[in-house]
Amino acid sequence: MPSPRPTASPATRALAVQVVALVFVVLMLRLGVLSGLPLLALAALQGALAASFAAALRAASWWLAIHLFFLPAVVLCAQLGLPTWVWACGFALLIVIYWTTFRTQVPLFLSNRKTVASLAEALPQGALRVLDIGSGTGSFVRCFARLRPDSQVLGIEAAPGPAWLGRWLARKQENAKLERGDFFDADWSDFDVVYAFLSPAPMQAVWEKACAEMRPGAVLISNSFAIPEVEPEGVLAIPDRRKTKLYCYTIRAEQTRPAVQTHRIWPRKSKTRRA
Ligand SMILES: C[S@@+](CC[C@H](N)C(=O)[O-])C[C@H]1O[C@@H](n2cnc3c(N)ncnc32)[C@H](O)[C@@H]1O
Repeated sequence: MPSPRPTASPATRALAVQVVALVFVVLMLRLGVLSGLPLLALAALQGALAASFAAALRAASWWLAIHLFFLPAVVLCAQLGLPTWVWACGFALLIVIYWTTFRTQVPLFLSNRKTVASLAEALPQGALRVLDIGSGTGSFVRCFARLRPDSQVLGIEAAPGPAWLGRWLARKQENAKLERGDFFDADWSDFDVVYAFLSPAPMQAVWEKACAEMRPGAVLISNSFAIPEVEPEGVLAIPDRRKTKLYCYTIRAEQTRPAVQTHRIWPRKSKTRRA
């Protein structure tokens, strides 16, 4: 029988893990076990402890790296003696780029050209309406729109920085449009293809929304992250360096279900809006 999953959000668990590891190190220091060690070594020990606790709690692998390097990076940066405004700018930049990551558990990384080109070639010819859910800086949207000029491509992105940049980069492409918003608030029923490059966290909710809104025959494509317990109709293997896999799910009539309303990243319903 699988062991039960912890119920707190990953961000809350990460914070708890960091605090517990820090308390451990402070206690050992007070007991004199670690006296004489430089600050950076203490920070490295805290990082190693935090990563071990997180691994025991079955956190995703990127959290382990964050735990391992967080405090050592803070100590190293503090030792550089940078002026305060550099910290403020760095913090503001991170907020603009990773705005909702702590809620969505989907960081920003981009589809590569080879993946988009393979998909553009594999999909049926003719005008398609394509939606990229979580479009980042629009790298998928812009590239697909260029390769399939007869198609209309829309991207929806929650984080302000990537959404603004994407919209600016796509400003001269008539068949590419980028909007800022929560893709769970959008209506997917108009699209022939919905493309997702997210993380394991929202895949179940994405599938439920696809079954509730996409018409039979429309296709949901997920880059790298399969939908749990749903057999893909096909898997497109991309010959790129990271050996990308595109999981393809054609919505069948018997899969369509009533709408569910529980997955928005912002508690109050907010309409998708131009960036
Ligand atoms: C991995 S990036 C993919 C970017 C782009 N689709 C591509 O393939 O290049 C995923 C993006 O989804 C965004 N995202 C996650 N959940 C979202 C949501 N509910 N609504 C809008 N954007 C979301 C994240 O902010 C992140 O920028």
